[in-house]
Amino acid sequence: MEKCKKIWMNGEMIDWDKAQVHILTHALHYGTSVFEGIRCYETEKGPAVFRLKEHIDRLFAGCHAYRMKIRHPKEELISAICELIKENELKSGYIRPIAYVGYKEMGLFPLNNPTDVAIAVWPWGTYLGEEGLKNGIRCKVSSWLRIDSRILPPQVKCSANYANSVLAKIEALDCGYNEAIQLNLAGFVAEGPGENIFLVKNGALITPPEDAGALYGITAQSAMAIAKDFGIECLKRNLLREELFSADELFFTGTAVEITPIREVDGRVIGEGTRGEITRKIQEKFFEVAKGKDPSYHSWLTFV
Ligand SMILES: Cc1ncc(COP(=O)(O)O)c(C=O)c1O
Repeated sequence: MEKCKKIWMNGEMIDWDKAQVHILTHALHYGTSVFEGIRCYETEKGPAVFRLKEHIDRLFAGCHAYRMKIRHPKEELISAICELIKENELKSGYIRPIAYVGYKEMGLFPLNNPTDVAIAVWPWGTYLGEEGLKNGIRCKVSSWLRIDSRILPPQVKCSANYANSVLAKIEALDCGYNEAIQLNLAGFVAEGPGENIFLVKNGALITPPEDAGALYGITAQSAMAIAKDFGIECLKRNLLREELFSADELFFTGTAVEITPIREVDGRVIGEGTRGEITRKIQEKFFEVAKGKDPSYHSWLTFV
């Protein structure tokens, strides 16, 4: 990764290499941290953060589920992010706020320990490559089922959840694919290990509902809003694995992957085997919006 100058930790700007935690930090042992992935894009008016408020709201809601009390108001984290982007002279890139159960007592019970917060920013281009963004990626349906809300809350971006994602990711790459698609315990499609999935069939968009184990993705909400503005019908319903194979188009949405077409699933070519027309339309609009080129969506941007 590309280093920056400063990282924000518990209210202070720290040198990148000095932003460290104690080895007995609770979160390191038990996965007790909640994080966000946010992007900022270069616009004509300088860097702009995409849907910052929604990301910070989700961070706080996630901490609430784990009874973690962030000692900074939301507004302070929002200004810290803007300050950090300026301080590091970042034009575009990735923003990673993380709230974590800190160092004090050992053992599972976390409520006597502090909730610490850190925010890092760094330049980060496309997650699955420019080629993938343009022509699509190849996916494998994972043997690792998506976590279920009876086991861990999938709507919380808790680090513990990502152990499941990591296993799916390793398996997909070991098998020569670019990314995994995870089914839920009932066998329906849930999502990717770090992204939501959309299917295009007969001109309409279909994506699995939250109760299928799909994160309430901010990029997914944005893609659906864009689609609706184009007059494209959007549905949330359970998807069968075989519906992926016969889709006209498939794509992933997520802060990291942005909007990435899927051209193959388990050796089956999807649609024309490249980025489909509806995917292209939504993807192009998404980048136009994120880069501040469409004033009618400026409410989604926080200009730094
Ligand atoms: C498991 C999972 N699903 C979906 C997403 C996409 O969510 P968003 O668009 O809010 O980044 C992410 C990334 O945050 C994720 O980790």
